[in-house]
Amino acid sequence: MKQDWLQEALQARAAKGQKRTLRTMDCCQHPFVEVEGRKLVNFSSNDYLGLAAHPLLVERGHAFAQAYGAGSRASRLVCGSHPGYLKVEAKLARLKGTEAALVLNSGWQANLGLLAALAGPKDLVLMDKLVHNSLIQGVLASGAPFKRFRHNDLDHLAQLLQEAQGKRVFVLAETIYSMDGDQPDLERLVGLTKAAGAFLILDEAHGTGVFGPEGMGLSVGLGADLVMGTFGKALGSFGAYLAGSELLVQYLINFHPGLIYSTALPPFALGAIDASLELVPKMGAEREHLGHLSQVLRQGLRQRGYDTLASQSQIVPLLVGEEAQCLALSAYLEDQGFLALAIRPPTVEPGKARLRLALSATHTLEQINGLLSALDRWGAL
Ligand SMILES: Cc1ncc(COP(=O)(O)O)c(C=O)c1O
Repeated sequence: MKQDWLQEALQARAAKGQKRTLRTMDCCQHPFVEVEGRKLVNFSSNDYLGLAAHPLLVERGHAFAQAYGAGSRASRLVCGSHPGYLKVEAKLARLKGTEAALVLNSGWQANLGLLAALAGPKDLVLMDKLVHNSLIQGVLASGAPFKRFRHNDLDHLAQLLQEAQGKRVFVLAETIYSMDGDQPDLERLVGLTKAAGAFLILDEAHGTGVFGPEGMGLSVGLGADLVMGTFGKALGSFGAYLAGSELLVQYLINFHPGLIYSTALPPFALGAIDASLELVPKMGAEREHLGHLSQVLRQGLRQRGYDTLASQSQIVPLLVGEEAQCLALSAYLEDQGFLALAIRPPTVEPGKARLRLALSATHTLEQINGLLSALDRWGAL
């Protein structure tokens, strides 16, 4: 078959300045990264606690691989559910304060299969305008009709819930939004969905490890029906969890396609997760430092007239608007020794291109000030 249509699609992207390429990045100890032979301060990583290269994660990963092998041999329902899973899931449920927890291979996979497992054409999904693409794809796969409420606008959600009376309704939101770094009024969100008898799913990919009791997320103790969180960001490893009631977890074991039809995680990943669940609850000082750095950066940017949206977290957007200018600013910062990648449509809405500055507890105040000074020089160009 001729493949001109592939070329045309790529050319159309390139014409809009939106064609992406993969760049090799060498992983030094966070917050540094090596790009084309240059060591840069990394402001684009989700390694919020600097755990990805932590010796205990690496050591425990090796120990699990030695005990159970390099590969997991099959899906969890066949023979891939090695004892590493049991240990991690019991620990997780305790830390999340839920009856049960289930580990899946990635946040993408967990979200993609979730709505396909839970909802169907007779149901209704109400989701925040900015929920992650993996949730949206899952909703599309489920065949359930959906409506999107304005970002963090719970009055709008209340209105949609009112209109949906008599239906089984699923509400989707994030505890920390991945590109804006803001959060909804979680208590009101839980109250609204409970009062309406709706099923609340919270994506805690960017809150796990950073916020809440023992760093286990803003959802802890709130009473959401189901929480999805990832291990690949603050927890420095790979994979994801779903936390909820025992009944729900048993249901998902039977109906979640990502659990049923995919080979289980390699034991190494489970070992690293096990170690990070041991470390994260004790990292209160690191979380405090991270919170302080985030505040300094937001304040510094706002004082310089930059729009950081409603960020309240370690994710600090620097809104640029126009894509070409955003790419130019990112390239300038790279030249100055900082990796701060441009986030552009279709990842964000047209006209909302931004640098998504992601902070880590391993950053120093000097590095934040260095970034702000570089922005001052850019402003003066
Ligand atoms: C909000 C949100 N949910 C889910 C995911 C997917 O998680 P994973 O990277 O583990 O596939 C991401 C990843 O970027 C995310 O930002």
